Amino acid sequence: MNTIHPIDNAALTALLTDHFTWMHRHPELSYEEFETTKRLRAILTAHGIRILDLPMKTGLVAEIGQGESERAQDSRVIALRADIDALPITEATGLPYASECPGKMHACGHDFHTTAVLGAALLLKEHESALPGTVRIVFQPAEEAPGGAKVVLDTGCLQDVTAMFGLHCSPRLDVGTVGITAGPLTASVDRFVITFRGRGTHAAHPEAGIDPIVCAASFIQAAQTIVSRNIEPFDAALVSITHIEAGNTWNVIPDTALVEGTARSMTAENRTLIKERLYALAEGIAAAHGATAAIDWYAGPPATNNTAHWAEVARDIAEAQHLTVIPAPPSLAGEDFAWYQETIPGCFVLVGTGPSIANHNPKFRIRTEALLPTVHFLATFVTQALSI
Ligand code: NI
Repeated sequence: MNTIHPIDNAALTALLTDHFTWMHRHPELSYEEFETTKRLRAILTAHGIRILDLPMKTGLVAEIGQGESERAQDSRVIALRADIDALPITEATGLPYASECPGKMHACGHDFHTTAVLGAALLLKEHESALPGTVRIVFQPAEEAPGGAKVVLDTGCLQDVTAMFGLHCSPRLDVGTVGITAGPLTASVDRFVITFRGRGTHAAHPEAGIDPIVCAASFIQAAQTIVSRNIEPFDAALVSITHIEAGNTWNVIPDTALVEGTARSMTAENRTLIKERLYALAEGIAAAHGATAAIDWYAGPPATNNTAHWAEVARDIAEAQHLTVIPAPPSLAGEDFAWYQETIPGCFVLVGTGPSIANHNPKFRIRTEALLPTVHFLATFVTQALSI
């Protein structure tokens, strides 16, 4: 681990490549990012970057620019966030720096986010005395859990932040292209588990019981009417049933049937509407058959929501850096950066990392050429955000 002063592009590229390949070889799952955190801490400390003393087991928050005592009343605090966790997937890319941990892989590109934000931190440190405010660098654990964003928010370290920025790699965009959109970019993500409880009986005597499988089948069909019949046709939303389980043989009607799935949408109104309809259908269908429906609802992050002003700033800076700017292709995937955006304005952008099979696939890969332009884009964006 070398300390380089001043950092030129060649030295920065070498450091970034080294860090990226190390991270890719050493993926760690949500809330287990101990080695990743240790290494980030060592690099930041070697470059003289302050690390905040926060109650976080993994992940960390660093600070560059004016400290609390030297900050002027009107100077800003801008936050830049990378997520650092990997996925429980066995890598199949065949890359020379493929994961050395069977069953774990950086298949969502969080190694890229971490490396790019680290690079931006090193560049910002070079110009620290000229920064007209403070930059908080957030290396967030457990985005995939999800919930790592809440760990960071709960420390209170973002209470004075004016605006916050984050990025996600996109295999749908070429290197040198960024996707920037005002408003929602990723969906709210909810998970539900419904247990229909009837009364088990001999398959030859259905009249003596209450069949929960019939309830489940009826519910699964009806759930698809929520998006097609209740949601405004121009809005994006979905209900997917992804797991059903009932019975274990051919001649017994079981007591219960389990149905699990996910509901996603781009607005708070549609999120509430879908939840209410799912409850009404499950409980109504169960009641109509003399059964009951027990519903467990797990609320994930809301939809991300980019502030128009900051999306505009991001677009101007990307164009000035000769990046190709396109509207970010929206997705009903989730992103826990949305929890920051409930209270902090800002912008979440997609950065092109070159054509690849989709994230979360064992053959997903990142083109490392995307690192350097992303580092310069992030560092410039954050610097300008301090004074614009
Ligand atoms: Ni991700």
